[in-house]
Amino acid sequence: MSDQMIIVVTPTYKRLTRIADMIRMANTLSHVKNLHWIVIEDGNKKIPAVENILKRTNLPYTYLPFKTIEGYPKRGWYQRTMALKFIRSNTSQILGKEHKEGVVYFGDDDNSYDIRLFTEYIRNVKTLGIWAVGLVGGGYVEAPKVVNGTVPEFNVGYLPSRTFAVDMAGFAVNLRVVMNSTAVFGLHCKERYAPETCLLEDMGLERKDIEPFGWEGEKDREILVWHTKTSTPNFPKAEKNATKPAPPPETYGYFVEV
Ligand code: UGA
Ligand code: MN
Repeated sequence: MSDQMIIVVTPTYKRLTRIADMIRMANTLSHVKNLHWIVIEDGNKKIPAVENILKRTNLPYTYLPFKTIEGYPKRGWYQRTMALKFIRSNTSQILGKEHKEGVVYFGDDDNSYDIRLFTEYIRNVKTLGIWAVGLVGGGYVEAPKVVNGTVPEFNVGYLPSRTFAVDMAGFAVNLRVVMNSTAVFGLHCKERYAPETCLLEDMGLERKDIEPFGWEGEKDREILVWHTKTSTPNFPKAEKNATKPAPPPETYGYFVEV
């Protein structure tokens, strides 16, 4: 078994469902050994409730605020970019004394992760690992199409011609690849088909580098990561001339990211 360090990069920002999502993700990651969690807050400052969740995992973690700058789409691109720069300049601190190798995974705060995604797939990625993601891209599942252990194409709805037709949750790259490149989620990726393929192509990777995971068998293949989104409840708004008042924004002293 590989003892590579797993480095998980999570952009996060204030939304009503964020604390619930982060608790779920923290509970999952706490079961994984040799994992460093890099959480980047899309905001001007760190949020104590978020940092407390990270502390309670007992995992080594890094929590830094980097608010999205002008020109970047507000979808975690700038935060992942800053995380890549942090990884490149703090590699030995992240790896610790016991590890020489690592794998980088971009895990958003609202997805649903099976522990085995980390222990069986990500931990073993030598260059570029790719696997199925459930409930993504407007379909039931997106996955690499595996022929004789290679990936000549992708089973996806949106733009299968992309070099890497994969969601952020569906791949991990070895730290060596990250260190041998300066690629980030740059502004030029706006002109490309998607941030994932933009980053991986910029890292000099090709389809032949793909190591598919979890494709064995003909049916009942398991999906280890789901592109879920926690729904925000609909609260009545305080309308002008409304006959009924909106409920008071009362949180009774509890921390809610209203
Ligand atoms: C989808 C993909 O799953 C993302 O990996 C991809 O970055 C994004 O599309 C994209 O279009 O670029 P989706 O689930 O639709 O993401 O969006 P969110 O989950 O709302 O956001 C992705 C990540 O960025 C989350 O971790 C979220 O917390 C973070 N985010 C989002 C910010 O840090 N700031 C924002 O203003 C919005
Ligand atoms: Mn999401």
